[in-house]
Amino acid sequence: MRLTSESLGIVVGRARPDEVTFESKRPVSIGEYVVLDYGDGGVLGLIERSSITSGALGDDIGNYEEAFESRQVAAENRRDKSYKGTVRILGYLDSLKKGRAMIPPVPAEPGTEVSEATAEDLSSIFSPSSHGWIKVGSLLRNPEVQVGVNINKVVSRHLAILAMTGMGKSNLVSLLTKEVSDIHGTMVVFDYHEDYTYLDIPNSNRMDARINPRFLATEEFAEVIEIQKNASNQLHVLRVAFTDEVKKRKDDDFWNALVDAAAEAGREKGYKEASEKVVDKIQDARRRFSKILDAGLADPLALIKNGKINIINLVELTERQANIVVSFYLQELLEDRKKGRSGGKVDPRFLAPVLAVIEEAHVFIPKGEETETKYYASKVAREGRKFGLGLVIVSQRPRSIDANILSQMGSLAVMRMIQQDDQAQVAAASEALSRDLIEQLTSLNSGEAILAGQWVNLPAFVRIEEVKGRKTGGDLDAVEQWQRLAQAKEMAKESSESYIPSGYSPD
Ligand SMILES: Nc1ncnc2c1ncn2[C@@H]1O[C@H](COP(=O)(O)OP(=O)(O)O)[C@@H](O)[C@H]1O
Ligand SMILES: [Mg+2]
Repeated sequence: MRLTSESLGIVVGRARPDEVTFESKRPVSIGEYVVLDYGDGGVLGLIERSSITSGALGDDIGNYEEAFESRQVAAENRRDKSYKGTVRILGYLDSLKKGRAMIPPVPAEPGTEVSEATAEDLSSIFSPSSHGWIKVGSLLRNPEVQVGVNINKVVSRHLAILAMTGMGKSNLVSLLTKEVSDIHGTMVVFDYHEDYTYLDIPNSNRMDARINPRFLATEEFAEVIEIQKNASNQLHVLRVAFTDEVKKRKDDDFWNALVDAAAEAGREKGYKEASEKVVDKIQDARRRFSKILDAGLADPLALIKNGKINIINLVELTERQANIVVSFYLQELLEDRKKGRSGGKVDPRFLAPVLAVIEEAHVFIPKGEETETKYYASKVAREGRKFGLGLVIVSQRPRSIDANILSQMGSLAVMRMIQQDDQAQVAAASEALSRDLIEQLTSLNSGEAILAGQWVNLPAFVRIEEVKGRKTGGDLDAVEQWQRLAQAKEMAKESSESYIPSGYSPD
């Protein structure tokens, strides 16, 4: 690409204010940017469809012989090929450089000159050097143009990162954590698959999820100790046993008092068996989750640090337990940030905005099912802006995420996605992505994304920078591991055969 614009083609056919077609000198790629000369200024457009047709080799070719002969005709005729591009009009270049999109009210006249956009124009739109922007990659079709995102908008208006597994969602989150770490921002990442536990982030604070069972509601505690939702007798026993009196006891006292109370509840007629099961479950949970359930824990938020990337490891938890943990932290964070705004009456723990990341969002905020996290996530999505609590939701199953919460996400990063119902849900949730853009999702490769919404000036096809040294969520390489094991065995065998006693000298 050049600094001065290169003429590319001419607008033809019926033009609309938002979309024109042009005849090009060469085949054009989807995702290329072009500038149309409107007389009163250059207007930026994005190529959303591209086609090549041949006069001689049209759909009416009836047989192989005809195709064979027509190929000759086509090769000799300079006028044979038609390269068409359909362009979505994005707005006047000047206004876009200032972060606004002003679309000309009238369509481009047929005959309007179309040229390639210059690197300089694109850079000032896609990576403004202004405050709050961080670099995440480069334009897919113009690799010399860097792309930035406005991190302020992520915190104030939330973000959804959606794509199939293995397409680069966690890589993008990793990149954001590193960038936010560099500017001493505060993030809380709920790490469901240990994607971030071993990531090299300078300002990080890692912890295993910990909750105080004494602070939970009975239903929540029942989830944690894995009492089935339909086990009504066991729930009854727990309700009788999990009293305020028991909750007041700390540490081991709490557990002992709870077990006694659950055993006591078995005296009630018909509840003996349920009581025994509940006692088993309490003791089992206490042992299995000793690292997570801490009855002596005063304030779980105290573990989260200002100005750090806080990574909360959820890997040992079941879905339901993880749900309790995430909802618990979200609730506490929201309460704390509300305090921060109330004008100094109560000291908040977090003195500045916090960005929370929920991976596997379809588990925590599913469509058509109530979960603990969903209630608080939707509160944060609606109100977080006021208090400076941003939400990033990440999922490989957009179709299974609560549509209401998804639609509150002001920004989007979408990578390869082939399922129709996933695409439809994303389209419904966001005005920022046109149908044509969504159709392109099937053709993206790993690490390539469409960024849209409030955190960018314009929707963009972007190659996201790869974060090196990640322990990845990619498929495990069984063949490689077997080979390594075999090699190690071989080496062990060789070294035992060529064993040289110490002190032996060859001379
Ligand atoms: N921006 C990128 N550039 C190059 N490769 C990438 C990029 N993002 C992801 N990948 C590759 O894809 C793999 C899966 O990425 P990951 O972010 O774990 O996917 P997801 O979280 O969507 O399942 C990574 O191991 C890496 O090899
Ligand atoms: Mg992932």
